[in-house]
Amino acid sequence: MALRNTSSEFGSLAKWLHWLVAIGIFWLIYLGLEQSGMERGPAREELRAFHGSVALVVFALMTVRLVWRLTNKVPAHPDGFPAWQRITATLVHWGLYVAVFVQLFSGPMTVATGGNPVPFFGLFSISLPIAENRELHEILEEVHEFAWKIVAALLILHVLAALYNHFVAKNDVLRRMTVGIKKEG
Ligand code: HEM
Ligand code: HEM
Repeated sequence: MALRNTSSEFGSLAKWLHWLVAIGIFWLIYLGLEQSGMERGPAREELRAFHGSVALVVFALMTVRLVWRLTNKVPAHPDGFPAWQRITATLVHWGLYVAVFVQLFSGPMTVATGGNPVPFFGLFSISLPIAENRELHEILEEVHEFAWKIVAALLILHVLAALYNHFVAKNDVLRRMTVGIKKEG
């Protein structure tokens, strides 16, 4: 399989990045919600730090992904793909990029404006050049507690669209993003 995208299929790098980021984001939503249900204390701090560390890996993967997306061909929609689906697919895809990056920026900025460095798996911490600011901290925390719901809502539409295309419209949309599902015929 080619590394780069072609006009009919995503290349291997786009596919691997898509699925690694997808696993990462599902995991981050789970970890974020898990820590929010815990009592204040060291166990919660540890889980928060782990959530933030996994998120920094996703941040790096998402950045590579975005650069790759902007510098690569994008496979054409299948023949006969209706205009409403072309428009909603584009809106949902770019909506996902924007909402995920809002989440990725608001997280570390919440930590930094709370007066703390951003830890990375206990190996080192990153001190962002942002001063402690309680007011901004509260706002960013609210943004972070809200934007994941937009990510989740867009994801539901995104997954339903993938399943609709595969099982109802029976086109190549899901197959060309998957690794190992062969093209029919
Ligand atoms: C957090 C999870 C996910 C995110 C952020 C995400 C994001 C995206 C984005 C932005 C694209 C557009 C292509 C690109 O720019 O690289 C895309 C394509 C695609 N995604 Fe996802 N996705 C996620 C999970 C899933 C899941 C769970 C499925 C399967 C059910 C799926 C199926 C697809 C398919 C089939 C395409 C290709 C669409 C096309 O060819 O137009 N994605 N995804
Ligand atoms: C796509 C990326 C991310 C997702 C999907 C995500 C998801 C979540 C969720 C669902 C929560 C719980 C919110 C609630 O209580 O309602 C949360 C909390 C938190 N996240 Fe993230 N997060 C992401 C990135 C980050 C990053 C990059 C950092 C820091 C490096 C971070 C730090 C935090 C912190 C400190 C909290 C607890 C504060 C709060 O409740 O707002 N997150 N995250």
